[in-house]
Amino acid sequence: MPALVMLLALFFIIIRLDSNCGSLASNVSCLENEREALIKFKENLTDEANRLRSWVGQDCCTWKGVGCSSRIGHVMKLDLRNDFDKFNYTAIFRINKLGGEISPSLVELKHLSHLDLSGNNLSGVDFLGSLKSLRYLNLSYSNLVGKVPHNLGNLSRLQYLDLNSPLRRGFEGPLPSCMGNMTQLTVLDLSDNQFKGEIPNSMKNLCSLRIFDLALNYFSGEIVSPLYGCIRTSLEELNLMFNSFTGQLPNYLGEFKNLERLCVDYNSFSGPLPSSLGRLSHLRELDARYNQLNGSIPVGLGQLSNLQFLDLSGNSLGGMLYEQHFTTLKSLKELHLSSNSLVINVSSQWVPPFQLQILEMGSCTLGPQFPTWLQTQRHVTRLDMSNASISDIMPDWFEHMSSCTESLDISNNHMRGKLPKFQTKCNDSGSFRKYWSLSSNKFDGPLSTLPSSTSLLDLSDNLLSGPIPVGNYSGIEFLVLSNNHFSGVIPVSLCSAATTQIIDLSKNRLSGRIPRCLGNLGELYVLDLSSNSLHGHIPSSLGFLQQLEYLHLRNNTFHGELPLSLQNLTSIHTLDLGENSFTGVIPPWIGDKLSDLVFLSLQSNNFYGGIPVQLCHLSALQLLDLAHNNITGDIPSCFHNFTAMAALEHNNYFGGSESYEDNILVTMKGRELEYTKILQFVTSIDLSTNGITGEIPEGLTALLGLLNLNLSGNHLTGRIPEKIGNLKQLESLDLSRNKLFGSIPHSLSNLNSLSHLNLSFNNLSGRIPTGNQLQTLDDQSIYVGNDGLCGAPLTKSCPGDESTYHDGDHQVLVGNGEEDEIEVMWFCAGIGPGFVVGLLGVMCTLYFKREWRYVYFQFVEDTYSRIFVAIAVKANWLRRKFHP
Ligand SMILES: *[C@@H]1O[C@H](CO)[C@@H](O)[C@H](O)[C@H]1NC(C)=O
Ligand SMILES: *[C@@H]1O[C@H](CO)[C@@H](O)[C@H](O)[C@H]1NC(C)=O
Ligand SMILES: *[C@@H]1O[C@H](CO)[C@@H](O)[C@H](O)[C@H]1NC(C)=O
Ligand SMILES: *[C@@H]1O[C@H](CO)[C@@H](O)[C@H](O)[C@H]1NC(C)=O
Ligand SMILES: *[C@@H]1O[C@H](CO)[C@@H](O)[C@H](O)[C@H]1NC(C)=O
Ligand SMILES: *[C@@H]1O[C@H](CO)[C@@H](O)[C@H](O)[C@H]1NC(C)=O
Ligand SMILES: *[C@@H]1O[C@H](CO)[C@@H](O)[C@H](O)[C@H]1NC(C)=O
Ligand SMILES: *[C@@H]1O[C@H](CO)[C@@H](O)[C@H](O)[C@H]1NC(C)=O
Ligand SMILES: *[C@@H]1O[C@H](CO)[C@@H](O)[C@H](O)[C@H]1NC(C)=O
Ligand SMILES: *[C@@H]1O[C@H](CO)[C@@H](O)[C@H](O)[C@H]1NC(C)=O
Repeated sequence: MPALVMLLALFFIIIRLDSNCGSLASNVSCLENEREALIKFKENLTDEANRLRSWVGQDCCTWKGVGCSSRIGHVMKLDLRNDFDKFNYTAIFRINKLGGEISPSLVELKHLSHLDLSGNNLSGVDFLGSLKSLRYLNLSYSNLVGKVPHNLGNLSRLQYLDLNSPLRRGFEGPLPSCMGNMTQLTVLDLSDNQFKGEIPNSMKNLCSLRIFDLALNYFSGEIVSPLYGCIRTSLEELNLMFNSFTGQLPNYLGEFKNLERLCVDYNSFSGPLPSSLGRLSHLRELDARYNQLNGSIPVGLGQLSNLQFLDLSGNSLGGMLYEQHFTTLKSLKELHLSSNSLVINVSSQWVPPFQLQILEMGSCTLGPQFPTWLQTQRHVTRLDMSNASISDIMPDWFEHMSSCTESLDISNNHMRGKLPKFQTKCNDSGSFRKYWSLSSNKFDGPLSTLPSSTSLLDLSDNLLSGPIPVGNYSGIEFLVLSNNHFSGVIPVSLCSAATTQIIDLSKNRLSGRIPRCLGNLGELYVLDLSSNSLHGHIPSSLGFLQQLEYLHLRNNTFHGELPLSLQNLTSIHTLDLGENSFTGVIPPWIGDKLSDLVFLSLQSNNFYGGIPVQLCHLSALQLLDLAHNNITGDIPSCFHNFTAMAALEHNNYFGGSESYEDNILVTMKGRELEYTKILQFVTSIDLSTNGITGEIPEGLTALLGLLNLNLSGNHLTGRIPEKIGNLKQLESLDLSRNKLFGSIPHSLSNLNSLSHLNLSFNNLSGRIPTGNQLQTLDDQSIYVGNDGLCGAPLTKSCPGDESTYHDGDHQVLVGNGEEDEIEVMWFCAGIGPGFVVGLLGVMCTLYFKREWRYVYFQFVEDTYSRIFVAIAVKANWLRRKFHP
């Protein structure tokens, strides 16, 4: 019997411990009507995890999550927060949440002052305005949608209101102006919903408000009047980031005496930064990045002795920054000024009052001398001085100063001289990795060692020479040494870097063979060895690179047949083997196995034989370049199966090409163009200079997205397909040096984008069609070598034409200059939408994952800061995170 008592006691202790948010008093029992209200509330909810299992029995004050007043036993508190891990919500959130409609029976709880339903999947909040005793209301992460209840303003005692909804759509519509009636509010978090419209003017009356968070909504309008009230004296945090606010930052911001955080980033604020900001003596964080602010930075900001974080990047700020701008910024840890037009003008003796951890001054003018004051900064982990007009040598102290710098970008300057030896090791924690870009400078001399703990090293576009160091590459992920004068062989020590994802050694003077052991790099997804003097066979071990997406071996002297093992490269996206001496037939397995292939270039090799019909299986193919080989036979009639070329839009941006700035050479419009950013828009078939026979298959005219078609220098016969005019996107068409006959189809004049045309040296005859774009293509050389052709622009008139024909009667000739212009226009038009489409792609991916929007915008920002490989790191990270 005593045992049973003890067991019971233990049982109750467990219950007590379990209900830590439970009753406030142990010895009062709950009121019957309130108990019934809770039961109704429970009945309307789904509760898969049985979280409300303790909700039985008479005394509701003992139920988990229920708290009662100590004297009478009124229910005062209902805390059903689903406390999930915000960064791993999937598993727990799914199971623990309560679902369904909140029962209006809660209105019976006349004394309810604390209601926390956050993290659940609820609906039906219209009655909440009737819970007049509420002081605390937390509906964050709750999957609520629609407008906020119109009577919310009745909650005149409310002190905390949290409607933050990062995971779902959230609330929408304008804020009801009655919210200004909740004058007790101290915390108001409306972030990450779909609110729109202006901030109601009544909000200025929230005289107790300390934290006001409107971030990540669609609010618009000016903030001048809605904040000019007693809210000025109480506010400590104002967060307006990621909205569409316009107008100036009001000068009275200086009157927000208690303000510690001011975040107005990613809006459309314009005009100058108010100089009154210098009076916010408590300010710790000022974030105004990515607005349209102009003018100069007020000297007064230098008085903010508590300021730790200052980000003004991505505006149109100008003028000079002197030492006075920093006079008492002794707490500053992060300074972001990138992407403005600022000139930093401080003396070489200057000793700043701060010790920065992050310094970003990309695109500010810091040079021409290397800034000596950096020497005083001993804890910088992130340094961006890209495009900063520095044309100096790297000072000796920099090696030491940067030894613990994780992210370093000094690309796009005119830095010259030798690189440091990189022998200083970081004494701090051992776990960090370096992401360093020194690209696009004039560094010369040898590279003796790699900086220790390097994950990313970008030394592209310099004048470095000598061998690639035989060193320790373990830990390296991205190695980009392209466009230098490196010589010698590819060191086998590179193969020890099992983590390597990108190796770009293109545009150097490397010789020798591809080391067999490169096949060990199982993570590799970019291998670019193009434009070197490498030779030998492709080692069959490359077939082990199952992750490989981009393989560029162009412009070397590789020979032999393609090893069969390459058919294992099933992820491959770009196979660029042009300008080598490869031989053999085009392997049919390219079509059968490499089904993700988008760009295939075998141009300028010694491939012979026919075009295998299996290539037609490559439905993602956008570029097929077989030019300058010994290919014979007909063009397969199945070319219409290249569905990506038939499509008018190409959305595979996030499918790969962003993670590395892929490039491909396309011979188009009579010259070689290297495409990088807009690569995903390139659609091209080039079969020129081979021994191809037969007719041009009608199916080719189904490839409506084609920009470039070059069949010149073959033995094609027959007529130009009548439907050639369907290829409305075509910008370059070359059918010259074949045996085509018959008349030029009139539909050719429908090709409104055409800027390069060559039909010379065939047997074409009849009148040259006129009209539309053809009017501008009036160079006689387009048509020469076709004896039967007549009419403009040839001087030979057709039978029956008037003999009084003058060149001068026709439209003004368009010179070469203008053609270039057309091309440039096209190029720009391509980049713009390309970039936007690319980002939209990301946007859509992230739409449901709003927690990640921050990460994404970080990514966009870095696009501005021009560490393209660093983007690649991020993008790759994004890619792997989001598309596991
Ligand atoms: C509970 O209430 C009873 C009378 O209703 C009282 O005698 C007892 O002392 C109370 N116990 C506690 C722990 O307050
Ligand atoms: C709530 O539950 C009651 C029964 O307890 C039922 O009559 C009512 O329809 C339910 N309401 C909703 C919205 O489910
Ligand atoms: C997320 O939570 C689940 C279940 O608790 C767990 O198995 C998984 O490892 C967690 N994932 C991460 C990234 O923490
Ligand atoms: C509301 O609940 C969430 C957890 O679901 C918590 O992170 C947040 O701090 C709460 N808000 C307030 C104002 O207490
Ligand atoms: C949330 O509840 C709605 C119905 O109220 C349901 O359709 C939806 O699937 C639920 N969402 C989750 C994540 O459980
Ligand atoms: C609440 O606000 C509305 C509109 O701002 C106002 O008309 C009304 O008088 C206010 N009510 C109270 C109780 O303050
Ligand atoms: C081919 O590589 C050589 C260096 O090996 C370079 O000079 C040349 O410009 C490259 N050609 C093309 C078309 O890239
Ligand atoms: C290619 O794949 C086949 C079968 O999956 C495997 O047996 C072979 O070893 C692989 N070869 C290479 C070079 O990866
Ligand atoms: C390709 O054709 C050229 C010129 O006709 C010839 O010199 C060369 O030997 C041919 N190569 C092969 C591999 O057939
Ligand atoms: C081309 O596509 C058609 C269906 O559209 C299919 O029947 C045919 O087999 C394909 N041909 C080749 C060679 O892939």
